[in-house]
Amino acid sequence: METRAVYPGSFDPVTNGHIDLIQRSAALFDKLVVAILRNTDKVPLFSVEERAEMLERAVCNLKNVSVTSFAGLLVDFVEELGASVIVRGIRAVSDYEYELQMALMNRRLSNKVETVFMLPAESYSFLSSKLVKEIAQLGGSIHGLVPVDVEKRLRSKLKFE
Ligand code: PNS
Repeated sequence: METRAVYPGSFDPVTNGHIDLIQRSAALFDKLVVAILRNTDKVPLFSVEERAEMLERAVCNLKNVSVTSFAGLLVDFVEELGASVIVRGIRAVSDYEYELQMALMNRRLSNKVETVFMLPAESYSFLSSKLVKEIAQLGGSIHGLVPVDVEKRLRSKLKFE
């Protein structure tokens, strides 16, 4: 039977760490759906449409990966898709506590869905969308941390071009 997995997140914007994780997950599961959360407390820099565009460009070479957005409970969305796995990345021990809490809560909400933790390449273990935005905002180099297209969009959004 085909195993479908969902990789949820804010992706504001997608980083090379996310892409690394998407590539690793796409090799493990038959289908991977990258799902951008629509309703969030965080005020995003990029709209959901912009984030989806950047992700779609970044994964266009991966045939079993698609990009979409969702609102509401993640486990409901996963079940609606007929998926059984939630993929989350863990960069360092500091991520673990929050991720464990979410994974156990999601397990309580649905016993049909398992969370799988994936490790990105070591070279991305310090990388986050938040830091990328901060560095770009302060005029630092984000080259090699995000796809070139994302780098350009960040610079133009933050008026550094
Ligand atoms: O990249 P992020 O912002 O850390 O992703 C967080 C995300 C989207 C995975 C999480 O906020 C989420 O699943 N939100 C959907 C609402 C939900 O199901 N909440 C209960 C989680 S236990």
